[in-house]
Formats: sequence, C-alpha cells, structure tokens
Amino acid sequence: MAKLLIANWKANPENLTEARRLARNTDSVRVVIAPPFPFLETVGNTIKKADLGSQDVFWSSGAYTGAVSVSQLKKLRVKYVIVGHSERRRHFNESNETVNRKLKAVIDAGMKVVLCVGEGPEYRRNLSGARTFVNHQLKSALKGASAKNLIVAYEPVWAIGTGSPDSPEHAAEMAAEIKNTVGRLSSQKDVPVLYGGSVTFRNAARFLSLPEISGALVGGASLDSREFRKIIRLVL
Ligand code: PGA
Repeated sequence: MAKLLIANWKANPENLTEARRLARNTDSVRVVIAPPFPFLETVGNTIKKADLGSQDVFWSSGAYTGAVSVSQLKKLRVKYVIVGHSERRRHFNESNETVNRKLKAVIDAGMKVVLCVGEGPEYRRNLSGARTFVNHQLKSALKGASAKNLIVAYEPVWAIGTGSPDSPEHAAEMAAEIKNTVGRLSSQKDVPVLYGGSVTFRNAARFLSLPEISGALVGGASLDSREFRKIIRLVL
C-alpha cells in the first residue's frame, strides 16, 4: 500500500517567502504539507501535487478569539487536519475531551483527521503501560465518533524533536495495537497508522518498510527540503 508523509511545519518558517519556497521544493504526491495558519492559503496555491493539511482546528465558528474553524479550513482546500498533537496537549492544555470535539468536527465536515496519540517518557520501555495509555487516548478521542476518514499518528512524546526515535519494532507493535483498538471501537478495520518522532532520512526507510506503518509524520526534517526530498523518494 502507498505510504503517506505529513510535513508538520509547526511554527515555521519565519516568513511567507520561505514558506512558498519550502512548499515548492517539497511538492509531491503522497505528501501532505501542514503549515501554520498564516501560510495556508499561499502554500495551498503553491502546491500542485501535495495535499494541504492543518496543524489544528477549533470545532466551532463564531465568538472564539484566536480560533480557526473547520469551515474556514475547508474553504482553503485543507484536506487533512491534525488533532491532539502532544505539543497542543502539553503547551495548550488540550484534554482528551477537547481532542474528541475537534475530531468529531473534522469528520462531520468530511475532511480527513490525523489523530495524534503517544505515551510519555514514564512508559518508555514499558509496553503494557504504553498500550494502556494510548488505548485510553483512542477511546476518549473516538467517543461518539464515526471514525470515518481517520488516520492515527503514533508519536511517543519522548521521541518528538529529541533526535531519539522509537525502535521500529516497538512502533510496529504499537501500530498493531492501535489498529486493533480502533477496529474494536469503530467500523474502521484497518486504520492507517503513521509513525512520528525524530524521523530523518537515516531512519525513515526502517519505519516505512514495516507493513503495520502506513507512513510518517515528520517535523524537523520536513523543514529541510533536501532532507525531506530524500524521504519523499522512499514513498514514490
Ligand atoms: P519531529 O516532530 O519529527 O521534529 O520529531 C514530529 C512531530 O511532532 O510531529
């Protein structure tokens, strides 16, 4: 099955010119580019082959200062919306309930939702603890949702931005567990599970070659167009 790469630019780059250049240089099929909100429109107009993603969303429009709604994203031709990234959970106090509301709003709008889950350092090298933690995140996020158009990104928090990725074996075990759990909770039997956390060209092939792993959510390495292009070549 074709693998998918999602470029999570986070709060980068500094300006529109650089955003346009990065988008142009990494535009490819099987790639989703998720720039910060101010660059969505420009990136959307620049890419010809990649799809447009958003790093976050709010579930409603109206009097919510600082928020961006699902319908606004949809009008910008955003196809994928990331929800529940660990940086949102940590720095913006997002709870499982918040993630659940966002996820449902995205699914209701007919866009694809990329649900991020992953255990913290306290469960590193503790497979059963990690499974319990991630299953709880999945159960809360999917409560009352149809789980249609769902993609899960497994991102152990301790692997994000640290240069220390998960082992492919552990990531594959967690991906298999996630597929099982989503299958039990919903009608979606073989949910795609991406791996995220310090993916670089050096380690990407090992994750992408695993049948349990449907692609990668790439942060830092997606900001370096030469590096990211090498990763893209692995999925073409
Ligand atoms: P990283 O980020 O590749 O820089 O570790 C991944 C992510 O946060 O999605």
